[in-house]
Amino acid sequence: MKSDFLSFENHSREDVYALFAFTDYLKILRARNKIYQPLQGKSVAMLFEKPSLRTRASFEVGIHQLGGYAMPLSNETVGIGTRESVSDIANLLSRYNDALVARTFSHAVVEELAKVATIPVVNALTDRLHPCQVLADAYTLYEKNKLGEGVKIAFIGDGNNVANSWIELAGILPMHFVIACPEGYDPDPNIVAVASANRESTIEVVRDPFDAVRNADVLYSDVWTSMGQESEYEKRLQLFSRYQINAKLLHAAKEDAVVMHCLPAHRGEEITDEVIDGSQSIVWDEAENRLHAQKALIVKLLSPAEYNDFHLTRRLKTAAQNAHG
Ligand code: CP
Ligand code: NVA
Repeated sequence: MKSDFLSFENHSREDVYALFAFTDYLKILRARNKIYQPLQGKSVAMLFEKPSLRTRASFEVGIHQLGGYAMPLSNETVGIGTRESVSDIANLLSRYNDALVARTFSHAVVEELAKVATIPVVNALTDRLHPCQVLADAYTLYEKNKLGEGVKIAFIGDGNNVANSWIELAGILPMHFVIACPEGYDPDPNIVAVASANRESTIEVVRDPFDAVRNADVLYSDVWTSMGQESEYEKRLQLFSRYQINAKLLHAAKEDAVVMHCLPAHRGEEITDEVIDGSQSIVWDEAENRLHAQKALIVKLLSPAEYNDFHLTRRLKTAAQNAHG
């Protein structure tokens, strides 16, 4: 049966850590210039209803590095739901490809693509969620030993798709996740309710960014106006003005706190140059890890035997090491 990656729903802590371990492996192979091409002969359609730089570039390059072919399709060509129905697109692309990566406005469209397609579908961002981003973000913290129980992540800004995916992840991995946002811009209450069932995590919504960053290990920023909300730009600029990550806010966090931003950044709005270019910023490692984490995800979905072999070999090695002291 095919698997999709539309959200963190149905993912266990073990699933996430297994992806991190495989991401580590792919990152090392890349650093050593080792060729690893389990996707030879396979192709992935990439459908974009919204603009993208990182997501498109990291999937396209990553799939190429894995020996596959990535086919970007913009909505000007495809016309999702206008030139052709969502289900016809899913059916058609399933006949040519081995997976479909899709960025759409409505989350329901990605869900429908996944329901109809006979190939794995990956959510490359919807208005509701951005799980690929948060997978790479969490991996970035994991490799810097900043993920786990007791780690406080302060998201400053809009309760948007990225925040929602972070909260979904808090439902799986233990963390203290706090978002500071203006009233009316909270994350999805249903996502908060589901994630709050994980008693090992604390999820909070507060109004004061200084409350959020107190004792925080990670400060996270995203644009105040997401793609599709451009008509609200001026209004949001006013409303969110105190939700800027600047030197003063950063100073109120832990001394060794790191700063993340999913990018693109609107410098001078949600984050200052001084902070994003400063020594505590890890935004470029974060952006680079989109490549490694998504490669791991794509191998898991398209070549599960390869992925499972990696983990089996790893378990056998650990067992042998333990047996021989
Ligand atoms: N962070 C992110 O998804 O960037 P793009 O919108 O450029 O893909
Ligand atoms: N919240 C932003 C994320 C961009 C990667 C948006 O949806 O535009």
